[in-house]
Amino acid sequence: MELWTLLKLLSVLFVLSVIGLYVYRMYFDPLAKIPGPKLAAASLWYEFYYDVVRKGRYTWKIWEMHDKYGPIVRISPYEIHINDPEMIDEMFGMKTAFFATESHELHRIRRGVFAHYLSKATLLRLEPGIQSVIDKLVSRLEGLRGSGRNVNLLDVYASLTGDIIGQYAFAQPYGLLDDPDFSPYWHKLIMGVSPNGHILKQFGWMMPLMKAMPPWLVKIVQPQMMTLIEFQQEFRRQVIQAKEEITRGEKPVGQETIFYDVLTNDQVRPQEKETDHLQDEAQTIIAAGSVTTGNILAIASFYLVSNPPVLGKLQTELGNLMSKTGPLPKWQELEQLPYLTAVITESLRIGYGVSHRLQRLFPDTVFQYNGYALPPMTPVSMTTIFLHDNPTFFPDARTFRPERFLEQPSLRKYLIPFSRGSRQCAGLNLAYCELYLTLAAVFTPGRFTLELFETDISDVETKHDFLNTSPRLDSKGIRVTIN
Ligand code: HEM
Repeated sequence: MELWTLLKLLSVLFVLSVIGLYVYRMYFDPLAKIPGPKLAAASLWYEFYYDVVRKGRYTWKIWEMHDKYGPIVRISPYEIHINDPEMIDEMFGMKTAFFATESHELHRIRRGVFAHYLSKATLLRLEPGIQSVIDKLVSRLEGLRGSGRNVNLLDVYASLTGDIIGQYAFAQPYGLLDDPDFSPYWHKLIMGVSPNGHILKQFGWMMPLMKAMPPWLVKIVQPQMMTLIEFQQEFRRQVIQAKEEITRGEKPVGQETIFYDVLTNDQVRPQEKETDHLQDEAQTIIAAGSVTTGNILAIASFYLVSNPPVLGKLQTELGNLMSKTGPLPKWQELEQLPYLTAVITESLRIGYGVSHRLQRLFPDTVFQYNGYALPPMTPVSMTTIFLHDNPTFFPDARTFRPERFLEQPSLRKYLIPFSRGSRQCAGLNLAYCELYLTLAAVFTPGRFTLELFETDISDVETKHDFLNTSPRLDSKGIRVTIN
């Protein structure tokens, strides 16, 4: 057969298979009856366009789909999205009995290894170490008082939380807070890693390929991916260093560290101590544990500074407590404060935490909703942004009003900043500990007066979903001067 004829034949076969796949997905797929745009149901390229080409905008497209089609929509050939606050418990497995599948079981074991180190009991023991990093932040801010210099709170707080988790995970003195500019590269590095998630979703094979290529070539072909690779290599180096220290019989002085303990714990299975696995865990813990909490602290600070009556109430409450406890109340004492607790809850609501939809699979259950039955293993997702902005439960949702949780404490059940169920955030206790101690320290009455510098609401509102929330891309951050 001539080459030209062969090419024509292959082209016809390709077109026929695309048409066949389209017809199957539209009319015969078990999800075919779920409402939603035809293009989204036909191909993953629809999501790719919004998340990669338009830079993390699919979330808002999904929002439009719900406005048009109702609370259940098909957002890709495989995935269903639900927007219904009353479905939170079903969705996150609080009502469904999970039967252990291999991946659930493995997740449970692996999660168990780290759960101890991130439990409230362990953190209460480590609180003095966390407080000492916060004290360092306070003294850095004191040094800036009256200087007229502006600092970006996103960098300031990402450095704080990065130093805390770096210390706790590896006893690595990252020294982010020591940098005169609060290590702006750190926030950029972690935010820069996040958009890769969108690309990797479409091209799962890309990461192994990039890892196999020489770094100079990756830098040319896909520079964004280089950040991720460098980030992973750094954690690999830290895991190997921890292993070498243990072999030499060295022990981190004066503190517990997660990775030292995992490596020396006889109860932990050898597969959980392998370098590849620990490198992934280190990356998850450090990336998940710094910018998330840092962003919420910056958003909380923005709203406190922009709402003097709210800040006034908070400082009165803190002042009353500190008159009894002295200037350094403990986390457990701060947790008892209703207004501070409402400020933190409202900050988590308005700042969302994570902007990307949270996905669940139900291995053995047919997920029922609104007359639709989704076969087992159908990915179902929900998005924090939609729930936290729900107009029924949170009227005037973009207004910062901590009082809503004092007037109606039950509203908390419609919030999912840390997700829920067996896969909820592993670091939620550490996040709360950091939020309580840091806000109390920075907003201690009479300590600092923060003033916004060329910053407005457009520097705070989420406009892009890079898994972490991101404001408009040309924002210079949440900047303040300190007096
Ligand atoms: C305000 C701060 C934080 C927010 C809003 C947040 C939110 C989340 C969310 C939504 C998830 C995904 C859960 C899911 O898929 O359903 C998650 C996972 C995770 N987070 Fe956080 N997080 C925060 C702070 C932290 C901190 C401080 C750590 C430090 C260790 C941490 C460690 C993790 C880990 C390890 C996972 C993966 C859990 C798993 O797969 O089981 N997070 N977080």
